[in-house]
Amino acid sequence: MSTIPVMPSYTETPPSNVPLHRPICQQLRQHYETVRHQHMRDMFAQDPQRFERFSLQLGDLLLDYSKNRITAETMRLLVKLAEEADIAGWRDKMFNGEKINNTENRAVLHVALRNLSEHPVWVDGVDVMPGVRAVIDKMAVFAGQVREGAWRGYSGKRITDVVNIGIGGSDLGPQMVYQALKPYRHPELKVHFISNVDGTHAEEILETLDPETTLFIISSKTFTTQETMTNAFYAREWFLQHAQSACHIARHFVAVSTNREAVAAFGIDVAQMFEFWDWVGGRYSLWSAIGLSIVLAIGHEHFMALLQGAHDMDEHFRHAPFAQNMPVIMALLGIWYNNFFGAESQVILPYDHYLRSLPMYLEQADMESNGKSVDRNGQMVDYATGSIVWGASGINGQHAFYQLIHQGTKLIPADFIVSMQSHSSLQSHHDILVANFLAQTEALMRGRTLAETQSGAGEQSYLPQKVFAGNHPSNALLLKRLTPHALGMLLAAYEHKIFVQGIIWNLNSFDQWGVELGKQLAKQILPELSVHDAVTTHDASTNGLINYYHRWRKAS
Ligand code: F6P
Repeated sequence: MSTIPVMPSYTETPPSNVPLHRPICQQLRQHYETVRHQHMRDMFAQDPQRFERFSLQLGDLLLDYSKNRITAETMRLLVKLAEEADIAGWRDKMFNGEKINNTENRAVLHVALRNLSEHPVWVDGVDVMPGVRAVIDKMAVFAGQVREGAWRGYSGKRITDVVNIGIGGSDLGPQMVYQALKPYRHPELKVHFISNVDGTHAEEILETLDPETTLFIISSKTFTTQETMTNAFYAREWFLQHAQSACHIARHFVAVSTNREAVAAFGIDVAQMFEFWDWVGGRYSLWSAIGLSIVLAIGHEHFMALLQGAHDMDEHFRHAPFAQNMPVIMALLGIWYNNFFGAESQVILPYDHYLRSLPMYLEQADMESNGKSVDRNGQMVDYATGSIVWGASGINGQHAFYQLIHQGTKLIPADFIVSMQSHSSLQSHHDILVANFLAQTEALMRGRTLAETQSGAGEQSYLPQKVFAGNHPSNALLLKRLTPHALGMLLAAYEHKIFVQGIIWNLNSFDQWGVELGKQLAKQILPELSVHDAVTTHDASTNGLINYYHRWRKAS
């Protein structure tokens, strides 16, 4: 039963370095007082084995976490924190289909979507695996027909373009994977993504397409999301203007949803609906039928390899001891900086052009999961929870925002994600890319002392500005090559990292009540935008802005 949380005053935000209320945190705090004064440069000088000690290889994925402000004792204490938080117990509850999403009374089973073992997964006494497999098969058959040209548009032409209409988890995951796995795409089938309710997004995409050769996937877990439904109705109207008859819709519109009634009401035959279930969270749904655009683009086999990669990471997460468990280590390091060093953000820096959308995807995955100040029991927390996750292509970031990471006043732990083999044939380009990644992590770690700066060849003026403090932490996640399997491993590692952190912070990482208020207010405001009289029902600012919009709306 939830209790009413004590609300903080408006000026109060949870202090970022208050330790968690777990017994081991007292020790961790004392330990932090010694580690915070140590420089990683000295740690490396003292321990030539530091890379071996603090790196972990799992198949084609290597995590080097040696450039972190940690010692063996730090990791020992952090692992104890994971034990005290009962990560193992909560992990088992998740994999066993218990309803750990307490506020929505739902199981959390994205792991079942990629359960390629023979083991059943039970929810309310029912094994969900036959249903999961049936949808995978249905997607394979449908995608096969479209890819081979057997599925034709109403005028008999083959489908050349697929448009996924969705937003949030029904857009970011498929879009990111589509971009990441470009080398595996069907050469004659393009996928487009419409998410924004700014009409220019839909217009710009549709004006390049031929309705006779376009297939729409309306992707929405709820099938009620305003932006998605507005774009879906617009797409249907655009299509019918050309096709004239509603009986042609069947060849050009399919749905991915949990909401049969709404799909049928929209006019899509439920036989053309690809089902998923309430135990799949939107931001964890790319493995489900929400991945239909991925299957269409890269084919069933590559999609299965993506699932296999994620499943391999799931198995590792389930069975590896915490001290050698990749997602657990990533999570604990995040906690170390967030709750002891007071770091407020975490930056994601892919050094692979095809992974340039990964930061945006992880923003939703992480911040919608752990951006919470009320714990799973309804109590207000007094410690920092989810980090601000941000980032962009690393090499471009070097020429834009890295200055602040190197010499600003904030501590920003960084994840560098790099493919060892490029899909490009330009090896010398790739060498430059990798050299830059290495240089950045070394510079962040080492910095440059005054003596080193003075002895350099450059000018001897402005020395304080040219000194780098260093001691900035980073992880390096190295993929042998960006394959479907490696991508599956990487994404599942981040999902479990988010899960572990949520448990340590005692959060329910699987609801998202914080997005509801804005949605409700938007629905209330929408009719007020087209009235003639001045609006006076809100605060002065909102009234003023609405009335200002009235003026320009009339003028246009
Ligand atoms: O508004 C947030 C959210 O509910 C996300 O959690 C979700 O991924 C997105 O909207 C889209 O929701 P749906 O798939 O139901 O359209």
